[in-house]
Amino acid sequence: MNSTGPNARNLLGIEDLDRAEIERLLDSGRHFKSVPPRKKLDALRGRSIVNLFFEPSTRTRTSFEIAAKRLGADTIGIQTLGSSLSKGESLVDTLNTLAAMNPDIIVMRHAASGAPHFLARHLSTPMINAGDGQHEHPTQALLDALTILEVKGTLQGLRVAIIGDIAHSRVARSNIHLLSKFGADIVACGPATSVSKNLTQLAPGVSLTNRMRDAVRDADVIMMLRVQLERQNVEVFPKSEYFRYFGLSLEHVALARPDAIVLHPGPINRGREISSEVADSQRSMILNQVENGVAIRMAVLEWVCSG
Ligand code: CP
Repeated sequence: MNSTGPNARNLLGIEDLDRAEIERLLDSGRHFKSVPPRKKLDALRGRSIVNLFFEPSTRTRTSFEIAAKRLGADTIGIQTLGSSLSKGESLVDTLNTLAAMNPDIIVMRHAASGAPHFLARHLSTPMINAGDGQHEHPTQALLDALTILEVKGTLQGLRVAIIGDIAHSRVARSNIHLLSKFGADIVACGPATSVSKNLTQLAPGVSLTNRMRDAVRDADVIMMLRVQLERQNVEVFPKSEYFRYFGLSLEHVALARPDAIVLHPGPINRGREISSEVADSQRSMILNQVENGVAIRMAVLEWVCSG
């Protein structure tokens, strides 16, 4: 597990985790999923968790909050507009200020790739990366793996098509690291501007294509990505043009294996990345992913606190 801060156990990315650590978190996630949602546990009773979000979030922020509360912890939510960052305080000073109040964990999302890694080197408070720029979103990859495993039983040998704005996607990077460690065959597909050769150096078992039909053919899992409009200086494709080449329709799903499943980390842009027919179909695991997000974040919070 990533542990850079003095005495702190952190979860900063999937890249540095080994299979045993990932399996342990997935097993723990399965356990927490089996606990009825209304049953409050006391694993983290008396602990305080700061959720520090410098970028918008619905799923990650809310599920960390619910996960912490189910474990009996107290939570404090901070967003840029409500903090002294809007008065000119630096990120390091803000984090030192929060750390001085002795929370047990800081969960942070930030637009700058590497921001939590940088801060973890200076803080003794354990940190969890809730998404850093275009770099990693480790809890998303863990909840995606749990979702796939619930249906497929294994990751080994699965053909997983990851489709969309890969260059800007921390979800893609974390998933490529995780799926590759478990022997999945990954095909990355997107516009030429979004699929570069260095993706194949990220992890073994990654192939590239710009053709949607080639990517989805015989796929076991189709993982769609959100177009990261906030990370593009100019919109690379107008909405309808993007859907024409890289949007997932029922016609594409028909090319995949008969039991193929469709994932999307959300928020989904209907008619840009995915058609409503697919998003609302039996193949779609989108809400299963959201549900699994709570269990996985319970597992991660407990693990980090026990370090
Ligand atoms: N998947 C995901 O990170 O969603 P949010 O931006 O809503 O947290």
